[in-house]
Amino acid sequence: MIEVQHLVKKFGDFTAVNDLSFAVESGQVMGFLGPNGAGKSTTMKMITGFLRPTAGTARIAGIDICDNPLAAQTQLGYLPEGAPAWPDMTPRQFLDFITRIRGLDKSAARQAMIRAIGMTELHGVLDQPIDTLSKGYRRRVGLAQAIVHDPDVLVMDEPTDGLDPNQKFQVRQAIEEMAAHKAIIISTHILEEVDAICSHAMIIDRGEIVAEGTPSALAARSRFFGAVSLTLDTQLLERACKVLDGIDNSRYEVVTRGVETVISVFADTAQAPATDLLAHVRDLISQQEWPVRALALETGRLDDVFGTLTRKPRPLADTANVADGGGA
Ligand SMILES: Nc1ncnc2c1ncn2[C@@H]1O[C@H](COP(=O)(O)OP(=O)(O)OP(=O)(O)O)[C@@H](O)[C@H]1O
Ligand SMILES: [Mg+2]
Repeated sequence: MIEVQHLVKKFGDFTAVNDLSFAVESGQVMGFLGPNGAGKSTTMKMITGFLRPTAGTARIAGIDICDNPLAAQTQLGYLPEGAPAWPDMTPRQFLDFITRIRGLDKSAARQAMIRAIGMTELHGVLDQPIDTLSKGYRRRVGLAQAIVHDPDVLVMDEPTDGLDPNQKFQVRQAIEEMAAHKAIIISTHILEEVDAICSHAMIIDRGEIVAEGTPSALAARSRFFGAVSLTLDTQLLERACKVLDGIDNSRYEVVTRGVETVISVFADTAQAPATDLLAHVRDLISQQEWPVRALALETGRLDDVFGTLTRKPRPLADTANVADGGGA
């Protein structure tokens, strides 16, 4: 449903997106991750036909977005960064306008509006000018216009940014529900969101893909993968360390947060099965009768992988020409 091939965007001498290729099928939710300025929004603008690529192609349901933008845009819903909307309109007027330009007839438009308003819980603010809405509500209006025509392809730039925790949960749930019959791309800085709703994830840095795969496969690239983490009272730390020092071919790291301490035990040899280490630590815990608060075999940490892949220093020449401008 979404096919991106060798997409490039340059603003003057500055390359914001550099040779990006990927595909998203119906039923998939692709999480777009990357530090500020990585090129997520620029890529989304090109995929949705708001910015012309310097090179490469993007196809929506097989239709080239540059050759036939209107036909391609008919298939998609787009929540742009910042969720722009007409400030003088009320959400009711705005959504009514969107259903009309989307070509829905009166009764379909009515049903569509009821559905979108329900999913984004806009009932209380339907007749208040968008200009006077709080940030989270403005974003909900943006979400509602993106989904109102029930498109096959959804591109959403930080859909949960600025939402309160209840709404975040609800929007995630809505995305999960819609995912079965749509191809969806979301960008986010909330890594738990990727675990919660994305079937695939892609980390980009400086316009290039640095990692992609399922969230669990990406997390498994973390150095914590296979480590055994135990959480216990900080006052037990000294005793625990003495005992853990006795485990052969292992080392550990300690993170103390007030009264609670997490110790991550790593096997030194790659050959040692992680389950053996877990069994060993579990035996020690029962022998020592430590009142452990939690014990877990780590499945990896996405934040650790993200940090490792995107924290390389930026060359000076690369940072000098960002303000060059460019335009579509
Ligand atoms: N019109 C433009 N002219 C010049 N540079 C631009 C333009 N639009 C974007 N850029 C630059 O392209 C790079 C990528 O920006 P983009 O907005 O795509 O990043 P992002 O990954 O969405 O970041 P964020 O997480 O902050 O939203 C940035 O360095 C940005 O300053
Ligand atoms: Mg952005």
